[in-house]
Amino acid sequence: MSWSVSFSISLLWICIFSSFSSSSLASAVTLSGGCNKPPILFVFGDSNSDTGGLVSGLGFPVNLPNGRTFFGRSTGRLSDGRLVIDFLCQSLNTRILTPYLDSLSGSGFTNGANFAVVGSSTLPKYVPFALNIQVMQFQHFKARSLQLASSGTKNMINEEGFRGALYLIDIGQNDLADSFTKNLSYAQVVKKIPTVIAEIENAVKSLYNEGGRKFWLHNTGPFGCLPKLIALSDKKDLDSFGCLSSYNYAARLFNEALYHSSQKLRTELKDATLVYVDIYAIKNDLIANATKYGFSNPLMVCCGYGGPPYNFNVRVTCGQPGYQVCDEGSRHVSWDGIHYTEAANTWIASKILSTAYSTPRTPFGFFCSH
Ligand SMILES: *[C@@H]1O[C@H](CO)[C@@H](O)[C@H](O)[C@H]1NC(C)=O
Ligand SMILES: *[C@@H]1O[C@H](CO)[C@@H](O)[C@H](O)[C@H]1NC(C)=O
Repeated sequence: MSWSVSFSISLLWICIFSSFSSSSLASAVTLSGGCNKPPILFVFGDSNSDTGGLVSGLGFPVNLPNGRTFFGRSTGRLSDGRLVIDFLCQSLNTRILTPYLDSLSGSGFTNGANFAVVGSSTLPKYVPFALNIQVMQFQHFKARSLQLASSGTKNMINEEGFRGALYLIDIGQNDLADSFTKNLSYAQVVKKIPTVIAEIENAVKSLYNEGGRKFWLHNTGPFGCLPKLIALSDKKDLDSFGCLSSYNYAARLFNEALYHSSQKLRTELKDATLVYVDIYAIKNDLIANATKYGFSNPLMVCCGYGGPPYNFNVRVTCGQPGYQVCDEGSRHVSWDGIHYTEAANTWIASKILSTAYSTPRTPFGFFCSH
């Protein structure tokens, strides 16, 4: 099914942490120091940040063993446990975010919302849940919150809350990866990059026009190292790490363009803070130096089927009849061929929080409310 990168659906995310023990997050938290007054967070993106939007929005089943490590049940996240966004929320001492589409959330939307949905891309527009749809959902959320607040409903996010909130965007991987899997040539994929970047710029500007002033932008990872994509590609132009060179080259071109765009936005959007985070460098280090960091072969999927070299079979994916799952997820980088394990996400989050990969080098704690 469909959580595959080719599934073009995206939702808005809401990051609400409800029941996490802060001690288990210690590794991610120490670097940021936490917040006495956590900020409100709004998240936009794809499966890298979907905390249950796909399940809430479309009723798609996401079964165990997804969720087995931390939650002990499936939460709709495509991983054995927490995602990077969960660790970022925890580092700010805020609850993990509730998916915008989750109408039965016990924890509600007082600390923000997560609009990210599995499979989302920036283009085409106006399909569920493209980035512009996620932004439209946010605009609805904001208008409705202000309306309810002005008629006396308690615990609604007010104008000041929206202005002080942190807006996190992590999208683009599916725009590129789907193009490759639909057989577009490298040149055709690269030609799409400017329109994808323009969509991300539009999203930031729309959020700015709504009052947002704090932005956190993730670039895209080395998706040429995702075991599913390697297993399914006809042309295996593998580099010395066993990753698809052309895919990763396209990712780097995309990231260069996003970096320039973020510089431009910083000068255009007065009194805004926009932090660009080099997720590519973090994941690339993890994959290249996996054994040094305590992981086994980074291209071998934990939850899948078929054995080496990738343990990935498109007909028997994680959670589908016949799948097999590894005992020690904590030794694996890849959970299901596309998504990372909780152990890998913990490592990645700690690098994000180190500020070493951020431009400018803004500590995450900067976004605490004052
Ligand atoms: C992609 O292109 C290759 C070679 O041009 C062809 O053999 C293959 O069937 C195509 N795949 C799809 C999904 O169209
Ligand atoms: C792997 O680790 C070495 C030694 O710390 C470092 O120089 C190198 O840049 C790392 N590789 C990547 C791809 O980050």
